[in-house]
Amino acid sequence: MRIAVAADHGGFALKEFLKEHLALRGIEILDLGTFSEESVDYPLYGKACGEAVISGEADKGLLCCGTGIGISIAANKVKGIRCAVCACAETAELAKRHNDANIISIGARTTTAAAAAAILDAWLDAEFEGGRHQRRVDMLNNM
Ligand code: RB5
Repeated sequence: MRIAVAADHGGFALKEFLKEHLALRGIEILDLGTFSEESVDYPLYGKACGEAVISGEADKGLLCCGTGIGISIAANKVKGIRCAVCACAETAELAKRHNDANIISIGARTTTAAAAAAILDAWLDAEFEGGRHQRRVDMLNNM
């Protein structure tokens, strides 16, 4: 599995931490930046990650910004992206089981590194349930 990761300056440090976590799980990483704490504009990074997932360059995506919100809004502008901002492992698991979220977004200023790793694991380890949820995901995809 290959995961596209991207962050703005607010999420840079968390992205670097979570890259190590992904590597320990044996997951291949496509790092789309940013590569320092110099101020950048989060819409560019959310869009790049969304496009990498939709093009098939990556299977899933991980985003980080200060709150996880701005960068997720950008990713969700890419047709076919279902990016969920998650602040706990339970919502991360449900984002996969019910929403088939293909990108997860985490707030670096609102989430500890340990909690972020648990959130990421919960999402990666969950399976989409399909069934009635597939119908709703299809509705999202058709919007
Ligand atoms: C950048 O200062 C900050 O606004 C950004 O990382 C994020 O929190 C936006 O949603």
